[in-house]
Amino acid sequence: MEPDSPHLRGALIVFEGIDGTGKSTHIQLLARYLRGLGIEVVTDFEPTRGPWGMKVREAAMSGQRLSLEEEIDCLLQDRREHVRNFIEPALAEGKWVLLDRYYLSMMAYQGASGANVEEIRECNEAFATVPDVAFWMDIPVEMSIDRMKQRGNAADAFENEPFLMACAAIYSSMEMPWLHRIEADGSIAEVHARVRDVLREELGV
Ligand code: TYD
Repeated sequence: MEPDSPHLRGALIVFEGIDGTGKSTHIQLLARYLRGLGIEVVTDFEPTRGPWGMKVREAAMSGQRLSLEEEIDCLLQDRREHVRNFIEPALAEGKWVLLDRYYLSMMAYQGASGANVEEIRECNEAFATVPDVAFWMDIPVEMSIDRMKQRGNAADAFENEPFLMACAAIYSSMEMPWLHRIEADGSIAEVHARVRDVLREELGV
């Protein structure tokens, strides 16, 4: 069978939501579960640590975000390289790709900054592989803020309550057949079970 045979193609599973919703914990738990089933899994995140992603991260950490246009340009460039160099090759090799943030983050975060949410979706879907399944990890914004405080990391320029409220409102308005809302304020085991229920239903694992 050719390496890019559709029969071998893996699956793209994306975790989304505002900061402090447990995306990275649930990616690690799901990766372990899927590997236990014999599935080849790779995990990654956006913005990446490549030059375009780092430009956005460094600006946000310094407390001064880039202009909206520059932010969109850098994040699109970052995602283009990520899709071409990492996501698509892994899928073509039959791997399952688990991502911490993808273009729904751009719809929510740059949308909350004033960009047109549908236009953002269209310009991403012009090149970015559409997920097989995406999870919107939903917790109350106050809980997200509390969790970030507990982590003790300095808040970056994205992490303030009114802004995260606007991001959460955009996530809650998204309607894609492959997007599933997960109530993410339960215990880690409960939330993991919810994630697995959706994957059983959608992908049969
Ligand atoms: P984040 O996942 O919070 O990074 P870390 O796990 O290292 O804390 O991502 C950094 C920020 O980037 C986050 O606040 C949301 C923002 N972001 C966008 O604004 N647009 C995007 O398209 C993506 C992928 C992220």
